Amino acid sequence: RIVYVNGSYVPESEAKISVFDRGFLFADGVYEVTAVLSGKLVDFAGHMKRLRRSLSELALPSPGSDEMILAIHRELLSRNGIEEGLVYMQISRGAADRDFAFPPENTEPSLVLFTQAKTLRETPASKTGITVATVPDQRWRRCDIKTVQLLYPSMAKMDAKSRGADDAWMVDGDGFVTEGTSNNAYIVKQDGTVVTRHLSNDILHGITRATVVGLAEQEGRAMEIRPFSVAEAREADEAFVTSASSFVMPVVSIDGTKIGSGSPGPFARRLRERYIAHAE
Ligand code: PDD
Repeated sequence: RIVYVNGSYVPESEAKISVFDRGFLFADGVYEVTAVLSGKLVDFAGHMKRLRRSLSELALPSPGSDEMILAIHRELLSRNGIEEGLVYMQISRGAADRDFAFPPENTEPSLVLFTQAKTLRETPASKTGITVATVPDQRWRRCDIKTVQLLYPSMAKMDAKSRGADDAWMVDGDGFVTEGTSNNAYIVKQDGTVVTRHLSNDILHGITRATVVGLAEQEGRAMEIRPFSVAEAREADEAFVTSASSFVMPVVSIDGTKIGSGSPGPFARRLRERYIAHAE
């Protein structure tokens, strides 16, 4: 596999990053994951817009123009022959002597990109749905910034897996679901209303979420953009999550309680089809 590191396309075994890189020492960096379907980048403009916001919230220098970053994405897809999968892009504050204070402005940010060939459309999970287990949301309070500081979500997913579930739904101090470890969470009530948490610092502002909320509205669904509790989710007719890597993924149980019939709901399946049609 060919990866991109600070201006060069190199085989992954030859890629180098400094041990003093602040991404490595302080998780001082941000990232984006963009899906590729039928050779096409999905919602690239949205990912770039969010990247710009993450960079500015952390006063991270820009590694270059949107056009330059798009060109690197395309070059890597072509060099690695990716038709379906993901492009991961990470920008960190670069290498500097270890100090909690940011280095002076002339430090070069590090820019790393790699591709992952991956089946996204016809996955077993999209047929069966996934199960989730709830965990307290113990992340920092700026979950709207897409930082590479992913240890808590990683631990949460391991906790869920140790309890026999596929993923975790994180829950705030008031019993409301914030989001999944790497996806946004939704329920469909018995009257067909779709509920998903409002945008704030508590969740990542999903690019897939923005598209899917629009598609649900086009489907004539009433939407309630507000927090929902774990208790409400247990009573829901359907549940699902969205992300660049899972598109729209049905959720069929929460903490061992079946949601609706316990199989992927019709609206989640419909939205998944609509999303894939949009992405292609
Ligand atoms: N994760 N919430 C969190 C905490 C996420 O990490 C992600 C994405 C999302 C969904 O955002 P989007 O629709 O823009 O992918 C929500 C990516 C896929 C990852 O970390 O691999």
